[in-house]
Amino acid sequence: MSFDRSVKIAPSILSADFANFGKECEAIEAQGADWVHVDVMDGHFVPNITFGPATCAAIRPHIKGVMDVHLMIAPVDPFIDAFAQAGADVITAHVEAGPHIHRTVQAIKATGVKAGVALNPGTPAQAVEYLLDMVDLICVMTVNPGFGGQKFIHSQVDKIRQLRAMIGDRPIHIEIDGGVDPTTAPLVARAGADVLVAGSAVFRGGSVIDPSSYGANIRAIREAAQGTYV
Ligand code: DX5
Ligand code: ZN
Repeated sequence: MSFDRSVKIAPSILSADFANFGKECEAIEAQGADWVHVDVMDGHFVPNITFGPATCAAIRPHIKGVMDVHLMIAPVDPFIDAFAQAGADVITAHVEAGPHIHRTVQAIKATGVKAGVALNPGTPAQAVEYLLDMVDLICVMTVNPGFGGQKFIHSQVDKIRQLRAMIGDRPIHIEIDGGVDPTTAPLVARAGADVLVAGSAVFRGGSVIDPSSYGANIRAIREAAQGTYV
């Protein structure tokens, strides 16, 4: 995984057909996805349950590129090795998920996997200030985590701007998760984001039988984001 700040579209399989994860991953990559975003929820840290490391391991062979695992679970630390062994390229933990996020980032890095930290909408940018020399990715939640299809929270754009300034020249991705579509993509790209997660805005109108809408949806988000660059 080399580092660059170009816009990357990361479809969230939370909006995919759960009975067809392997084929859905193949379809979104064939239709232009850069990363595959995998939302792990525990019904405790967030009010929804998805799946765990066994499912991640099962879909791994169906993903050629980056498998980006977003852990919405508490506790995190007892499960890091299992997600690393499942083949994650990036493991992101929430700063709100426990009292020892620094230790959690150390534990992710110790597995050799890239480490991300996620911030809920109510958490300030400063919460990651002392992690900047350790992390590979900061995920700014632009909805409260738990469900796809929620409305983008505009107050978070200022947080993205703050983080971009705090990061400086460090090779850290800024990822945006929640309510990203062709309308909101330019706002976050202009503020400094490079990885755009999108669930409902990618999967709408398509299926594994006819995934052409996935491609059109991915292109629309990418072009909207890139249109901000002059
Ligand atoms: C929300 C998840 C997101 C979600 C985004 O808790 O972390 O990845 O799938 O879905 P949309 O793009 O539909 O807001
Ligand atoms: Zn996510």
